[in-house]
Amino acid sequence: MLRDTITWDRETGTVEFIDQTLLPGECRVVRCENIERLAQAIRRLEIRGAPALGVAGAFGVALAVHRSTVQDLSALQQEASRAAALLTQTRPTAVNLAWGIDRVLSCIMASSSPEQARETAVREAIAIAAEDVDLCKKIGEHGAALLPDTCTVLTHCNAGALACVRWGTALGVIRSAVASGKQVSVIACETRPLFQGSRLTAWELAQEGIDVRVIPDSAAAHLMRRGRIDAAVVGADRVTRDAVFNKIGTYMHAVCARHHGIPFYVAAPYSTIDAVSSEEDVVIELRAREELAWCGDRQLLPDGVEAGNYAFDATPLELVSAVITERGVFHPPLALENMRGIRRTI
Ligand code: MRU
Repeated sequence: MLRDTITWDRETGTVEFIDQTLLPGECRVVRCENIERLAQAIRRLEIRGAPALGVAGAFGVALAVHRSTVQDLSALQQEASRAAALLTQTRPTAVNLAWGIDRVLSCIMASSSPEQARETAVREAIAIAAEDVDLCKKIGEHGAALLPDTCTVLTHCNAGALACVRWGTALGVIRSAVASGKQVSVIACETRPLFQGSRLTAWELAQEGIDVRVIPDSAAAHLMRRGRIDAAVVGADRVTRDAVFNKIGTYMHAVCARHHGIPFYVAAPYSTIDAVSSEEDVVIELRAREELAWCGDRQLLPDGVEAGNYAFDATPLELVSAVITERGVFHPPLALENMRGIRRTI
């Protein structure tokens, strides 16, 4: 990757991000000066991927107070709360978004002057982005140890540098394995309907010369049956006490992997673990019909036919071979007690 996915520009006090909707054709950096534009970027998936959403949420709240002309502390805090509410409702499934927003909002609420609120908000948001780079490297190191010296790894969606700030979670595991001298080939599922696998995962791996081949999502079972996949590694938008929420299609890969005796790993930062929720508490984002009905100018659905554009699915934890976090690898039983145990280690 040539530059970080999302950054704070100290000189202008603005947020810069790569517009992921234009990749792989164009790598355009967008400068964002207000939270309405940032909220739009999140909704349109210009910025996407759970850790990048956490950073975007943090930068968004910092942007709101940094650029506000309000002089009174409580008015500024109210403005920050409104920004937080606007950003939180942009996407419901990834827990990192609310986590990043809350971290910066808490700093603002604990401040005793507007100057302090502005300064600590920006400092905290920049710290969240920097932490993401460090913890993805740790996830990568922990996960790389699980992969054989020579292997073919299946991944779904994009849990790479583009979904984070620089290194990635699932692709961080692959990057670290390659950096340690392992021979890793990647099978990237194209990830319908928005093609995060073919457009983004293939793009960022190919840029670094990591061997990658794209398949239709529906070809994964065939390759597993033929013995062509050694492991699956995916990211997560939320890990509850009973399930992993990730891009739609993840569950079918997990079921197939279990059937064929292939390890199925989930790589995610600790901020993605939501140990207080269960599967039924989580809202699965339902996106617009148009994303299924059209591919560019080409109509794919007859007029009047309904679509079910589910953005995520839930994979029960019993299908997961291990959850790879920056704090280490958690093996089954990945039960409530175990996840609570993780939380107690904070
Ligand atoms: O709709 P998206 O592109 O935001 O979905 C992203 C995913 O499902 C990723 O796998 C997940 O956020 C993990 S990113 C490290």
